[in-house]
Amino acid sequence: MAQQDAVVFDAYGTLFDVHSVMATAERLFPGRGSALSALWRTKQLEYSWLRSLMQRHADFNVVTRQALQYACASLKLDYSPQALEELNHAYRTLAVFADARSALDHLRDNHRLAILSNGAPDMIGAAVVHNGLADRFDAVLSVEDVGVFKPDPRVYQLPVDRLGIAANRIAFVSSNGWDAAGASAFGFRVFWVNRGKAPEEGLDQPPDHTLASLDALPALLG
Ligand code: LAC
Repeated sequence: MAQQDAVVFDAYGTLFDVHSVMATAERLFPGRGSALSALWRTKQLEYSWLRSLMQRHADFNVVTRQALQYACASLKLDYSPQALEELNHAYRTLAVFADARSALDHLRDNHRLAILSNGAPDMIGAAVVHNGLADRFDAVLSVEDVGVFKPDPRVYQLPVDRLGIAANRIAFVSSNGWDAAGASAFGFRVFWVNRGKAPEEGLDQPPDHTLASLDALPALLG
């Protein structure tokens, strides 16, 4: 039996490339696609943390839309409601990373696999179906069930409750350093996929493993 009884993946940035919106952004705002994509993601995460601290939860569709509008305004882009619609639609059809698809294919036969994401169920569902991954997962879990965003511990409790597996028997995989830190604090065995070659977070919660890509995951999990 594998050392870990389930492998739980973060969605945005880990399985799905949030910067696959760049092509649409670049077509709508030539020369500004990269800046827009980066600021959109930064504000989206900020708003998730701020809403949790304010205890004013709204689902990730709302957070993502409001972050996009702020990012467009901040970059002084001349945007229309239709441009915002196109970009929000692009966010529902993000591309899966090639190494993520391959890791899921390697792991599916011997591990229970799940997603745990800030995304609202319809958002994650759309990305999963768009990439033909629906049959890979035993569970697709959304923070909407607890009404607060990562890294609140109530979020990390969801797979423990839903899968009926103790935290220390769950492998948690995220490319987001702060999410990896939250998951370590909670008690998962954490695999940080450091896609962006970022420095370690200064949050006193180091991951158990740091990987350059998900290609290394199957061998580590056995
Ligand atoms: C998620 C964010 C952290 O999918 O990217 O939960």
